[in-house]
Amino acid sequence: MEAPLTLDTLLQGLRTRLQDAGIETPGLEARMLLGAATGRDTAQLIAHGTDPATPEQASRVDVLCRRRCAGEPMAHILGRRSFWTLELGVSPACLIPRPETELLVEHALTAINACSRAHPRVLDLGTGTGAIILALKAERAAIEAVASDHSLDALRQARANADALGLDVAFLQGSWLAPLKPRDTFDVIVSNPPYIALDDPHLTRGDLRFEPHSALVAADVGLADLRTIIQTAGEHLAPSGHLLLEHGFDQACAVRAMLEDAGYTAIRSHIDTAGHERITEGLLAPEGPA
Ligand SMILES: C[S@@+](CC[C@H](N)C(=O)[O-])C[C@H]1O[C@@H](n2cnc3c(N)ncnc32)[C@H](O)[C@@H]1O
Repeated sequence: MEAPLTLDTLLQGLRTRLQDAGIETPGLEARMLLGAATGRDTAQLIAHGTDPATPEQASRVDVLCRRRCAGEPMAHILGRRSFWTLELGVSPACLIPRPETELLVEHALTAINACSRAHPRVLDLGTGTGAIILALKAERAAIEAVASDHSLDALRQARANADALGLDVAFLQGSWLAPLKPRDTFDVIVSNPPYIALDDPHLTRGDLRFEPHSALVAADVGLADLRTIIQTAGEHLAPSGHLLLEHGFDQACAVRAMLEDAGYTAIRSHIDTAGHERITEGLLAPEGPA
């Protein structure tokens, strides 16, 4: 006689299939997928592992497992990803927020703290899911938060995330600083722009295969968007305003040089947990852009 189908047997089967497909953390992902298929959290799955599973649950598990084994990102399958202290909705129109971007949030918070205004104005360029600006607004409610993206679909997701979290952010559509009015200035401008070179082999691996090219790739060995932002942000920075940029692990030197050419001072890079210079910031000289 066949053993009855339980939540535990579904979990075990899922873990084995994910492991066989080469997934690095099959146990964790099996629990997350079973949770999504059954509507139960991890604690409930542990406490009720011997509960019978329905054929509908088994069929939902099978569909989710096939998608994951085909390489689809967990964030797309679940429709969400944790970032900073927030749970964010994610769609295929957006970059999936990455843990290394939390380093940008940390340094942006330091820059906000250094600002003497009661309501520092903060701008996030290329906001995607809204990850950076929503984390900043969640930490510092007093900031006036503005974010832009050229993708309307990404902005829709960012707006939905802001509404779900009850955070007040003004969203603008357009290329980098173009949607801003002349003389609209900010104390802190942050951006995690596309910075991967067109021919980078990583684009054909892992989650990157499922994310929008326009969120990942930039011309000129990945530096074109960083250059555009550095050359145009000055007009929208208050005197002594901060510009903070995320970039590739091997681009810090080029980014520092571009900031120097554009007249920034106090230029420094920050190292991520893997030991790579990942964030570079500069202060706009009080006399303004070069
Ligand atoms: C690397 S993703 C970063 C997303 C998000 N800030 C994050 O850190 O998760 C780059 C973002 O820049 C946007 N983007 C690309 N080119 C742009 C442009 N010319 N103007 C404005 N946004 C742009 C993309 O749509 C994407 O959302």
